[in-house]
Amino acid sequence: MAVRHGKKLRLGVLISGRGSNLQALIDACAGPDYPAEIALVVSNKPGAAGLTKARDADINTRVIEHREFTDRDAFDGAMDAALHEADVELVCLAGFMRLLSRGFCDDWRDRLINIHPSLLPSFKGLDAQAQAIAAGVTVSGCTVHFVRPDMDAGAIILQAEVPVLEADDAETLAARILAQEHDIYPRAVRLIAEGRVRVEDEQVLVDGARARPAKIAL
Ligand code: GRF
Repeated sequence: MAVRHGKKLRLGVLISGRGSNLQALIDACAGPDYPAEIALVVSNKPGAAGLTKARDADINTRVIEHREFTDRDAFDGAMDAALHEADVELVCLAGFMRLLSRGFCDDWRDRLINIHPSLLPSFKGLDAQAQAIAAGVTVSGCTVHFVRPDMDAGAIILQAEVPVLEADDAETLAARILAQEHDIYPRAVRLIAEGRVRVEDEQVLVDGARARPAKIAL
């Protein structure tokens, strides 16, 4: 995605709840040198705590409740319209708890990213941290990836690893992973906004190369 000189990339952030990743993006965007700005936050839940975080930062918000639509396509169509109305260029899912339709994913292909609390392709879906504990892995982490219609699928942009400790439960592991989410999500958005990311054969290239710096938070 090429960025016009001097112009910040306009983000649309979709949330359903707490909004700590949204907050990490808000904080990053507050930096004068950060190459992106949040144009709109959309929540499918009117009570999402993330909406307050957006309003506190003077960011435009919309509540689009999925329950008010007869089907997924109609709901996704309303979100698509809101995003276009706000001139959004990159959509960031941040704890957005709805599967998106194939049409939406295709329309926003390579302009739609997600953060997931595991080292994908392991532990897709809900309760990824509990899945990691149950599987007995010693390393887990988080992933920022381009979104495809299949759940938690798509070319990987950045990952961070964290250790899984013997004393961990899903909650303590989630907290360790979350700290890394807040670091890599803004970094991934920056790479995209700087026009350094390309997808080729479903692999992400940064600066034309497949190798990305591995982030290991021990
Ligand atoms: C995060 O763990 C994210 O990886 C997952 O949902 C959670 C959202 O948390 N997709 P928050 O709303 O950003 O605090």
